[in-house]
Amino acid sequence: MLSESQKKRLITAAIYAPSADNSQPFQFRWQNDNTLELWIDPTRSGKASDNRFVLSDIALGAVLENIIVCADSFPLSTQIEYFPDGVQNELFIASIYFLPAERALDASDDLVGEIPKRCTDRRFPFKGPIKTQTIELLTNAAKQRDCDLLSFACKKTIKHVLPVIQQAETIRFKSKILHQELFSTVHFNNTQTEEGMPISVLAIEKPAQPMFKLMKKWSVMNFVNKIGGAAMLGFRSVRIPILFSPALVLITMKGKDRLSVIKAGRAIQRVWLQASQQGLSVQPYAAPGIFSLGYIACEDELKSQLDAVATQMRNIVNNNSATNDYGLMFLRIGYNKAVQHRSHRRPVESFVKN
Ligand SMILES: Cc1cc2nc3c(=O)[nH]c(=O)nc-3n(C[C@H](O)[C@H](O)[C@H](O)COP(=O)(O)O)c2cc1C
Repeated sequence: MLSESQKKRLITAAIYAPSADNSQPFQFRWQNDNTLELWIDPTRSGKASDNRFVLSDIALGAVLENIIVCADSFPLSTQIEYFPDGVQNELFIASIYFLPAERALDASDDLVGEIPKRCTDRRFPFKGPIKTQTIELLTNAAKQRDCDLLSFACKKTIKHVLPVIQQAETIRFKSKILHQELFSTVHFNNTQTEEGMPISVLAIEKPAQPMFKLMKKWSVMNFVNKIGGAAMLGFRSVRIPILFSPALVLITMKGKDRLSVIKAGRAIQRVWLQASQQGLSVQPYAAPGIFSLGYIACEDELKSQLDAVATQMRNIVNNNSATNDYGLMFLRIGYNKAVQHRSHRRPVESFVKN
């Protein structure tokens, strides 16, 4: 039976998980003193880019990984039942049963200390080089969760995958629906916001911030697009940071069903914790993978561009592995000084499901 303090530690670890635009679409309910239910929060999920809950499932996968890593450190064993209600309840992601541990944790597995330290770093440049052994550690972390990791660690291979990331990123500014979704999560004045992202974490240069703020209005963004603005934003937010980084990795998954995505969320978080333990900074680029799964609910006129992203992603995976896996998330990695601005979380109590 878990003590109240153990329960609190588990939930505290859980909510450090990353989520798209810091939406924190997770909820928890203790069924009894040994069983924790994990739910998607309907009020913070299901937007156009979260159609079929792809973004939420990744975040919930990351939450699950934090819980397992934290339970391991007690030590406690865990059994997970995914989708306990099946299709009857698509928001009920998992029940986690906690049991006495059979063995103490290997010191080498100990990622729990990284849970509060891990964060997104959108600054550049990142320094390198990154040793082959470090990439191997990250690959093993992905494999431990039934996923894989492809690495692009020289300028030539990085330049090969750059166009698809840039293309996907520009679609986020060309689509009115996706543009409004993104800007609704950016807080320009409240640096301590508990949800979404304060502008400080976006690492936008001070002189460019007023222009970025103006682009929150679709009429301005639309006008800027007409003079090549979306491409310019793609250049600044993708091309420059990635070319000033020693490596990119791509987490791939076996299927595109919801369970595969949740497991990929676990893999992404495990890779991220491992990277953090190695002193690496990480910035995810989710748009190419998410768009290529084909569930985005945006304007019809952008469909051919989304299809082109899907084709390129398929080619990247096929050319770099012997599998038919799906590329889900790119991570830009490298070494940097400690992050000064990071996002916050809501109070623990607000995550309780009634
Ligand atoms: C599914 C998912 C997609 C994300 N996509 C991006 C992205 O495309 N670009 C980016 O800079 N950060 C991305 N992030 C990082 C989140 O914005 C970040 O996790 C969140 O703001 C919380 O901040 P933290 O990671 O520092 O705790 C993504 C995270 C998740 C889980």
